[in-house]
Amino acid sequence: MTTETKPAYSPGLAGVVAGETSICWVDPNAGLMYRGYDIHEMAKQANFEEVAYLLLNGELPTAQELMDFGRKIAAERELPEAVLDMLRLLPKTMHPMDVLRTGVSMLAAFGPDLNDQSHDANVRKAIRLIARVSTLITDGWRISKGKDPLADRNDLTHAGNFLYKLTGQVPELWQIRMLDTIFILYADHEYNASTFAARVTASTLADMYAAVTSACGTLKGPLHGGANEESMKMLDEIKTPERAEAWMMEALARKAKIMGFGHRVYKKGDSRVPIMREIARDYGKRIGKENWVPICEKLEQTMEREKQLCANVDLYAAPVFTMFGFPPELNTPIFAASRIAGWCAHVIEQHDNNRLIRPRSLYVGPEERPYKAVTK
Ligand code: COA
Repeated sequence: MTTETKPAYSPGLAGVVAGETSICWVDPNAGLMYRGYDIHEMAKQANFEEVAYLLLNGELPTAQELMDFGRKIAAERELPEAVLDMLRLLPKTMHPMDVLRTGVSMLAAFGPDLNDQSHDANVRKAIRLIARVSTLITDGWRISKGKDPLADRNDLTHAGNFLYKLTGQVPELWQIRMLDTIFILYADHEYNASTFAARVTASTLADMYAAVTSACGTLKGPLHGGANEESMKMLDEIKTPERAEAWMMEALARKAKIMGFGHRVYKKGDSRVPIMREIARDYGKRIGKENWVPICEKLEQTMEREKQLCANVDLYAAPVFTMFGFPPELNTPIFAASRIAGWCAHVIEQHDNNRLIRPRSLYVGPEERPYKAVTK
């Protein structure tokens, strides 16, 4: 057997720098910047379109550029009829993340530029994908519930349309503002697992739809985007703040992984938690559901005391989505409706300066041994 000097190895690629990016910086000490702008400054004022434009283009838009960008997204939101037919064929029990992944894959056949990896073609595909991922989620959900998809409302923003097309109700302005903030918080997070999957796929010079299909598959898992669905199941089970500590102690004694806690990069708190906690508190006050935040806070205190682990954004996103009226299985698709902007920005960056991503593995199998043919 050939011998190589044993290479450095970090399980799960923890701490490994796998590439450069100018899109997003996650500060382990609880900070987050998109293209140099602190998300805490943007989250409450910007809308999702503005942040998506920033991620794709590197600079904030002017008022005119923002309006044009919004119009381009609106023009691309409708799904091709064949994709709607496909959504009608899917089993009604299919998880919305699987519906989304299947839909993104199918959309590849319906847009121009598929195999043009130039910067401009990629930006056009990104706008189309940002628009249509949202519609795949809203139309896919309505169809799975035996309802007809709804036409866009031109008077509403992207976040407003998302809420309207999902529920059939014209949302309140404060609900649109909240969803914009949530979409901004989730829009990018440097080399998280789904974005990395997208970049690996893009690095083979596969197209943006292939990369986003990989990303959707990766986001689904409960250690990543799927955590917000699992967090809601946990909060539903706990029910009251008084039960939270005992619930957590029992779960830790079983060595269970508690969803909505821990993070690969943040060790002093997730930068997005304070904003999401405020949204949860605000929504709770408005609709008289003020129990969720105290349950989460009790869990946070107990986890901090027992394991020195911080909550991540999914802990508080879960009750916020419930207060919006979304069932838990839509939590991860809502994350995707926002992260699509980051995924596309990373695919563009990868294609603009590509090198195949192909790490090594450390062989730990049997030593070389003689082969004996199977006797027939
Ligand atoms: N609940 C209980 N213990 C946890 C934990 C959690 N959510 N997250 C980490 N830990 C513990 C691990 O068991 C491990 O303990 P040990 O050293 O005694 O074995 C230690 O903390 C380090 O965790 P590790 O799994 O090595 O961290 P990681 O960087 O590989 O994983 C996550 C990061 C996010 C995958 C992990 O924290 C997790 O599974 N969290 C729950 C899922 C989640 O909320 N995901 C959304 C992330 S935004």
